[in-house]
Amino acid sequence: MPPVKKSPQHIAIVMDGNGRWAQKRHLPRLAGHKRGVDALKTVIQACIGRGIPILTVFAFSSENWSRPTGEVSGLLELLNAALRRELSALHARGIRVRFLGSRHGLEPDLCTVLENAERATQANQEMILNVCFNYGGRWDIVDAAARLAAAGTSITEASMNAALSLAPCPDPDLLIRTGDEHRLSNFLLWQCAYSELYFSPALWPDFDAAELDLALEAYASRERRFGRTRPAPAVVPA
Ligand code: IPE
Ligand code: IPE
Ligand code: MG
Repeated sequence: MPPVKKSPQHIAIVMDGNGRWAQKRHLPRLAGHKRGVDALKTVIQACIGRGIPILTVFAFSSENWSRPTGEVSGLLELLNAALRRELSALHARGIRVRFLGSRHGLEPDLCTVLENAERATQANQEMILNVCFNYGGRWDIVDAAARLAAAGTSITEASMNAALSLAPCPDPDLLIRTGDEHRLSNFLLWQCAYSELYFSPALWPDFDAAELDLALEAYASRERRFGRTRPAPAVVPA
């Protein structure tokens, strides 16, 4: 791998293409989602190896409830099972796990599993893994604004930043979407205002450390201007 000049501190990923990966192999779509969990494990390890401290992944959108019931229940079960199976390994590697999204519509048992995982790993410092599940960017903005309004807090960029579900993490530097689709699909609409976008043709189950390095090389070649005429500091000025 060639030396990477600039590394993102926060990568967000729309993990897309599981269904097509399975269909190409004449497998049920859920087989693709299962392989997607393996790809996520690979990418978490690769991010730790490359010193990337924050990874945020889109696992289930507000709109994914519109899929066939069997696929939806399979995805909910997959999250529950994967978390029960992987939690101790995530914890042992110093990963803090957070779940971003509405708990509305999730079974109490799943909510308990999510809350236990967040609590068990909250002091970990090696990496933050934000899993966006039952998440939508519009939900996030409306939920934050409604809470601020209910508390009588004035709505400013700073108060919104603090109330959005990603807080206190900074905005993603790099947004990767796999599966050859070039859209946000309601992911982190506010927080990706100045993220660098990278679209990979790889289907998510095929995305690995080498694919991540291609995204990191593309990122290193970008000039982030934040509205200026010349390159700006790495962080958007307040
Ligand atoms: C992404 O893969 C995972 C979820 C949306 C839950 P898809 O299931 O969207 O896969 P494709 O896009 O149909 O291939
Ligand atoms: C986005 O993928 C959501 C996740 C990856 C969780 P979708 O497959 O749901 O997005 P669209 O429908 O192609 O826009
Ligand atoms: Mg898709």
